[in-house]
Amino acid sequence: MPSRVLNFPKGFAWGSATSAYQIEGAWDEDGKGESIWDRFSHTTGNIEDGSNGDVACDHYHRWREDIALMKELGLKAYRFSISWPRILPAGRGNVNQLGLDFYSRLVDGLLEAGIEPFVTLYHWDLPQRLQDEGGWGVRSTAEAFVEFSDIVSRRLGDRVKHWITHNEPWTAAFLGHQIGGHAPGLQDFPAALKASHHLLLSHGWAVPVLRRNSHGAEVGITLVLLPFELPSHNSADVQGYRRFDGYFNRWFLDPLYGRRYPADQVSEYVAFGILPPEGMAFVQPGDMEAIAVQTDFLGVNYYSRMALPSESAPEGESPTAKIVSKEAEPERTDMGWEVYPDGLYRLLNRIYFEYQPPKLYITENGASYSDEPDRDGRVHDRRRLNYLQGHFAAAHRAIECGVPLAGYFVWSLMDNFEWTKGYAQRFGIIWVDYVTQQRILKDSALWYKQVIAENRL
Ligand code: FCB
Repeated sequence: MPSRVLNFPKGFAWGSATSAYQIEGAWDEDGKGESIWDRFSHTTGNIEDGSNGDVACDHYHRWREDIALMKELGLKAYRFSISWPRILPAGRGNVNQLGLDFYSRLVDGLLEAGIEPFVTLYHWDLPQRLQDEGGWGVRSTAEAFVEFSDIVSRRLGDRVKHWITHNEPWTAAFLGHQIGGHAPGLQDFPAALKASHHLLLSHGWAVPVLRRNSHGAEVGITLVLLPFELPSHNSADVQGYRRFDGYFNRWFLDPLYGRRYPADQVSEYVAFGILPPEGMAFVQPGDMEAIAVQTDFLGVNYYSRMALPSESAPEGESPTAKIVSKEAEPERTDMGWEVYPDGLYRLLNRIYFEYQPPKLYITENGASYSDEPDRDGRVHDRRRLNYLQGHFAAAHRAIECGVPLAGYFVWSLMDNFEWTKGYAQRFGIIWVDYVTQQRILKDSALWYKQVIAENRL
């Protein structure tokens, strides 16, 4: 333990996070439509352990028990997402009341337990029907997202006072459309750029709708952001740094904070033939103003840092060149991600002082370690506890520097379906036995309970 007592601001939202596809199961129950993640995970070869989210943590049926666990931990806030095809099976049009009822009961249950709901509208499970019409590659999907946001916020807006439009548009756009590692599994860089624009546009359009339907609510968006390391200050490395930062961080931060798409990055894409000579032809008048709508907070997902390989920007290499770790032997989680708490401190400072969001939440941070229940029936996940402790301390240092950090959501409340990794990676502070659906609070959860109760590290 650090020798100093680290107090967190009064009212700090100590929370935990999940997402619909990763925990709910009930993939085709009560009128739910198919999502791109249902399709993707049902396609052989896409998920490393051959699994899918059909049952996952069966949270759709066990939500009461899960709220009871959150209450036992003393959580102040819980971040979860809404499955779009559970509400609108075809993506737009007919509303499935049973889907809305589920989330309405969940919200009531949370509020009764004294837990503040933070709702993410899009955590990657696009209705397959919309994908069939072009998905995020077409503008009409952004319009459908506004319809979805309107329906959900009309029903929940009296009780939900924290809305996150999108989770990690980088991942949805680039991992899903350029790299092909996530649904819909495309490898088409121009399509990824279009998708990123339509995701951002749908955010900009949805914000006023959420405000209208949910009086006094805070509305924001969650980005996954990375601190990149410069191998040296020679000009090739500096250029490489700008390129990666432009691709990953600035591509989203700049337009959201009124600076439009980074011009250096756009010319890069034109130079590489990824965009036509006329550039971002799919951006229409008014789009950039819509995207730059004022928000109440920025959600930050942070897991690790990335270092650029030395000689990171050789002439003619594509702007997506590999990223390597800086240390020869870094401490890594089971995902292979380096443990680097200082990156969180640096990242929070950089975002706040460069973009000045009125408020920040860490909407995800956590670690995958596969520790299993011991003979005593307990899960001694010391490495996760250490990881969280180091990152909480880093966040606290950022607060001391003046960063208005208002809450922290540990990823994840429970072990769950980790996308292409299936169930092999366990991020939970609660253990899940996927055969019996038994839950066990891991040591990290018991420790977190104490942190929350005392509001100090
Ligand atoms: C984030 C995702 C979340 C989870 C963690 C490990 O990128 O938002 O759903 O998979 O990574």
